[in-house]
Amino acid sequence: MGIDFDRIGRDQLPALLRVMPKAELHIHIEGSLEPELIFKLAERNGVKLAYPSVEALRAAYAFTDLQSFLDIYYAGASVLLKEQDFFDMAWAYFEKAAGENIVHAELFFDPQTHTERGVPIEAVILGLHHACRRAHAEFGISASLILCFLRHLSEDAALAVLEQALPYREYFIGVGLDSSERGHPPEKFARVFARCRELGLHVVAHAGEEGPPEYIRSALDVLKAERIDHGVRCVEDPALVQRLAAERVPLTVCPLSNVKLCVYPSLAEHQLPALLAAGLVATVNSDDPAYFGGYLNDNFVQTFAALPQLGAREAYQLARNSFEASFVDAAARAGWQHELDRVFSAAA
Ligand code: ADE
Ligand code: ZN
Repeated sequence: MGIDFDRIGRDQLPALLRVMPKAELHIHIEGSLEPELIFKLAERNGVKLAYPSVEALRAAYAFTDLQSFLDIYYAGASVLLKEQDFFDMAWAYFEKAAGENIVHAELFFDPQTHTERGVPIEAVILGLHHACRRAHAEFGISASLILCFLRHLSEDAALAVLEQALPYREYFIGVGLDSSERGHPPEKFARVFARCRELGLHVVAHAGEEGPPEYIRSALDVLKAERIDHGVRCVEDPALVQRLAAERVPLTVCPLSNVKLCVYPSLAEHQLPALLAAGLVATVNSDDPAYFGGYLNDNFVQTFAALPQLGAREAYQLARNSFEASFVDAAARAGWQHELDRVFSAAA
């Protein structure tokens, strides 16, 4: 399409990364719950928190691994009780997304985190769904929901929550697999994912964040995952990298998350440049932005600042990959790709 990427200087990159249209495909909506909203909802619902103030809670956000984060993340989610709470949480995210030129978002949600506390699944799904509808009406953001099973719980528990969710089947487009990865391989969920595929749901799974490359293979072979969430540990297995590239399986990479959860010591050591160089359909995402120090544009800007191998060509590729990897129809995808070309042509 003739964009001359070499004409775009490094000094132009931060603004271009912010303004380019993009899709976000890996955000846990419960991970967008900011401390201020946690305290507001705790007060509204009469929930007692283990921290005396917003500042004290934020100060606890120093994680050593995935589990140390999950413990605080599930405690934060305990303030969500009513449909309005789920709406307010998602609406706060969409207000930020609109300012970041996110044109499409696929939101993960964890129903078991709430149903295990006695929250009706209807409140969870309808609250989130109404926020998605309003985001489209007010901001033109297309948004859909992906229901995640918690892998530290049993497959029977996953099958049970799926049954509870089926009356609301029209409100979510797919299922995913999240929470503690090590010791909970994808094959633990073979039956429930087979059932989801029969139901016509899209299928994704976290794999290769903390877990080994074999978990990525079993997410593909056993669960038939269409995308791999994180997946960064594939670099330890060159044959797997080749397979992911050949089959164009997207990876939803989350750079700030990876540093906060000690997958990499720093952004400068992140393997995103190697993934792109290998021809993978890698995308950039925020994972749990309220906990990891930045929303999607901060992930882009900070990662590009830390890695000189990433320039305008890679920025364009990542945005393009986000549309290729999204579960949207061809017309929507083509429209956003056209707008992306326009933004880069104007910058060059
Ligand atoms: N739940 C929320 N964030 C997660 C992550 N990064 N990995 C696994 N489960 C999660
Ligand atoms: Zn995640």
